[in-house]
Formats: sequence, structure tokens, C-alpha cells
Amino acid sequence: MDQDMTVTTENLKKLYKVSEQSPESFAKSPIKPYIVKIMERGELPFEELIPNIAVFLFAALDTTANALSWLIYNLARTPKAQEKLYEEIHRVTQGGPLLKSHINNIPYLKACVKENFRLNQISSGNTRILPVDINIRGYHIPAGTSFHMQTISSYSYDPKIYENPYDFVPERWLKDS
Ligand code: HEM
Repeated sequence: MDQDMTVTTENLKKLYKVSEQSPESFAKSPIKPYIVKIMERGELPFEELIPNIAVFLFAALDTTANALSWLIYNLARTPKAQEKLYEEIHRVTQGGPLLKSHINNIPYLKACVKENFRLNQISSGNTRILPVDINIRGYHIPAGTSFHMQTISSYSYDPKIYENPYDFVPERWLKDS
């Protein structure tokens, strides 16, 4: 099978052909991205592969990469927070890898993630189609309306809610501060 796993329509077509013509060699493929595993199950038509890959790229990679880039930026401009986070992680891991089992002992890391999302929202919000009529402060919105709940909004930077709103202050999210 072709080893070039770049996600292009051409490569996908090739992969799809192999999966149909020679399922055995497909099963032996040394490189198995998640999408190949889905193809192996043979339940997804080709036309649905592209939108699904788009969802992986948008929903998973873009979001995670952007969130991490902003977090690195915010830590770089806030050395005190960076130092505190380093100490917490070092205390918990003792120099080893950070594991799922550490999840309850890393409150400062969780606070950093929350503060990062306050300052730099990765998703613009959620859209839903209303199943019933609703009334919000006198505005009648009928059922069937596509309704967007915006998370990127000025309240995230409102000094009445957050003191020094443009500063990266993870302590805002710690229970005891
Ligand atoms: C920092 C990382 C991420 C952020 C900020 C994020 C954000 C979101 C948000 C806000 C939604 C809700 C959209 C809505 O219901 O209107 C959502 C849904 C979803 N996310 Fe993520 N996401 C992240 C990482 C990931 C990863 C790593 C994956 C997959 C491996 C993923 C897969 C999905 C999927 C499949 C949905 C749709 C769920 C459904 O409606 O059933 N996301 N994400």
C-alpha cells in the first residue's frame, strides 16, 4: 500500500480502492491512522470520509494546537505562573511523565487551562436549532430558529468581573483564592 499518508482526496481514493480490492493487504498496513481503522470496518462510504477527516482536523487538531499555542504564549509572558506550574508538575511527577493518574493533584495546571480559555477562546460558541419557542428578556424566539450562543464576548475581559482582565492569572480559578 502507498506509504504517503498525507490527507488528500487522491490518497484517500487510492486507500479506498485498496481497502475494497485487497482487504488482506489493507489489514497488514504498517501505518494505521484512525481513519484507516474506520475504513477497514467498511461502513463509511467514500463521500463521508472527507467530511469526517475535516471534523478530525477542525474539532481535534486545530483546537488542541491553538489552545496549546495560546497556553505557551500566556505562560511565556507570565514567568511567575510558569514557575508555579513547573513546580507543581515537578512535585507530582518527580521528573517522570505526566500521567492520567495525576489528574486530581494538578489544580494549578487545571487553573492555567481555564484561564487560557478565558483569555483566548478556541471555539466561537455553540449553535443549536431551538426545539421549542423561548423568551429571553422579552425577545420571543420561535422554535426552528438557528440559535448561536457566543462565547467570544466582551464579558471575558470585563474588569467588573475580572480584575486586570488582560493579565494571565490562573489563581482566579483556584478554590482557595
Ligand atoms: C482544546 C481542545 C478542544 C476544544 C476547545 C474543543 C471544543 C469543542 C466544543 C466547544 C464543542 C461543542 C460544539 C457544539 O456542541 O456546538 C466540541 C465538540 C466536539 N469535539 Fe471538541 N474540542 C477540543 C478537542 C477535541 C478533540 C481532541 C477531539 C477529538 C479527538 C474533539 C472532537 C469533538 C467532536 C467529535 C465534537 C462533536 C461532539 C458532538 O456533537 O457529538 N474535540 N468541541
